[in-house]
Amino acid sequence: MAIYLDHAATSPLRAEALEAMLPYLRDHHGNPSSIHASGRRARQGLDEARERIAATLGAQPREIVFTSGGTEADNLAIKGVAWAASAKGRHIVTSSVEHKAVMSSCAMLERQGFEITYLPVDRSGRVDPDEVAAAIGPYTVLVSVQAANNEVGTVQPVAEIGALCRERRIAFHVDAVQSSAFAMPEPDAWQATLVSLSAHKLGGPKGIGALWVRRGTAMLPQLSGGAQERQRRAGTENVAGAIGFATAVALGLDADHAPMIGLRDRLIEGLTALPDVERTGHPTDRLPNSASVVIEGIEGGDLVAALDLEGIEASTGSACTTGSVEPSHVLLAMGIDPQLAHGSLRLTLGPQTTRADVERTIEVTAACIARLRAIAGLHSRAVATA
Ligand SMILES: Cc1ncc(COP(=O)(O)O)c(C=O)c1O
Repeated sequence: MAIYLDHAATSPLRAEALEAMLPYLRDHHGNPSSIHASGRRARQGLDEARERIAATLGAQPREIVFTSGGTEADNLAIKGVAWAASAKGRHIVTSSVEHKAVMSSCAMLERQGFEITYLPVDRSGRVDPDEVAAAIGPYTVLVSVQAANNEVGTVQPVAEIGALCRERRIAFHVDAVQSSAFAMPEPDAWQATLVSLSAHKLGGPKGIGALWVRRGTAMLPQLSGGAQERQRRAGTENVAGAIGFATAVALGLDADHAPMIGLRDRLIEGLTALPDVERTGHPTDRLPNSASVVIEGIEGGDLVAALDLEGIEASTGSACTTGSVEPSHVLLAMGIDPQLAHGSLRLTLGPQTTRADVERTIEVTAACIARLRAIAGLHSRAVATA
C-alpha cells in the first residue's frame, strides 16, 4: 500500500460519512424541492445536515449556503459580495498567497474595473495585520485572507484581521478550507462575514462545500436558475454529499493533534538535515499535518514522480499549466528564489500516518534527491561539453 502524504489535496472518505450517505444515494432519491413524500425525506436530510454544520460553527442554519466545494464558495464570496457592493466601492484587499480560487476571482474583478490590493507576506508566508489596516481605504468593500495556506501550511492571524475589518465595517472573508480539517472555523471569534469550507479536505466526499454567510450580508448569486439555498445558489442540492459532509464535520472535531505535530516536525527535521533543503512556511504556526520544503537542484515534479514509483504519494507547490511548470505564486510571494521554488515538495499527513511512514519517507526522499541531482549534474556536464 502506498504511503499517502497528500491530505491537503484530498483526504480519504471517512467510513461513517459513506455509511450516512448510502441511504440517500440508494433509497431516498427525492429532489428536496419536490413537495411529495420522497422530496420531503430528502429535504429533511438536507436540513439536518445544514443544522449540524451550522451548530459546529456556532451559526444559524440559514447562514449556510451549500456549494460544489471550496472553489465555488470562494468565488461566491468574493464576486458575490463585490458585485453587491459595487455601487459603494470597488476596492478589495487580499493576500498574495491565497488559493487560486481567490486569486482568479480577484483577477476577474480586476478586469471588470475593481482595484485589488495583494498584500505581501513575510518569509514564513504570514500577512501582517498592520498591512491590512494600511491597505483599507474609503472604497474598500471586502478583505479576504485564508485561515491557513494550502501549500506551506502557515496559519494567518485572522482574528486580528477580522477585528480591524469589523472596526471599519468592511466585509471579511476567510477561506478556511485547509484549517477546518483541524479546527472548525469560529466565525464570531474571527469577526468574519463569510467563511469557505470544503468537505473532501476533512474526510467528507468530493464535490460539496459550503459558504457561511453572516445574516444580513448583501451578496449576489453566481448561478441562476432556481430558488435553492435561499436564492443564493441555484441548482438541485447534493443531498448525499451534504449528509457526508455533516457527518465528517461532526467526527473530526475533538482529535488530539499532538502526535501528528510530532510526526510533521520529525519529517521537516529529517528533510532539512539533507544538504540544501530548506523548510518553507512558519516553523510553529502551521497546520498540524503540513511539512513543506524547497530543494536545490531538482524539479519538484520530478521528485514527486520518483517518490510515486517508490510508493510515496506527495505533491509539489508548482502548478502545471499546459505542459510548462510555473513556480508557485505562494513561494515567490514569500521571497523564495524562483529557481529554488521549482524544487518544492509538500507532504501532508493524515490520521493514519505512522512513525514508520515518516522514517521511510525521509530515507526514500534522500535517495531520490541524490539520484535526481546526479542526473541533473550529468545533464549539465553533457550540455557544457556539447
Ligand atoms: C485553501 C483552499 N481553498 C480552496 C480550495 C478549493 O477547494 P475544492 O477542492 O473543494 O474546490 C482548496 C483546495 O485545495 C484550498 O486548499
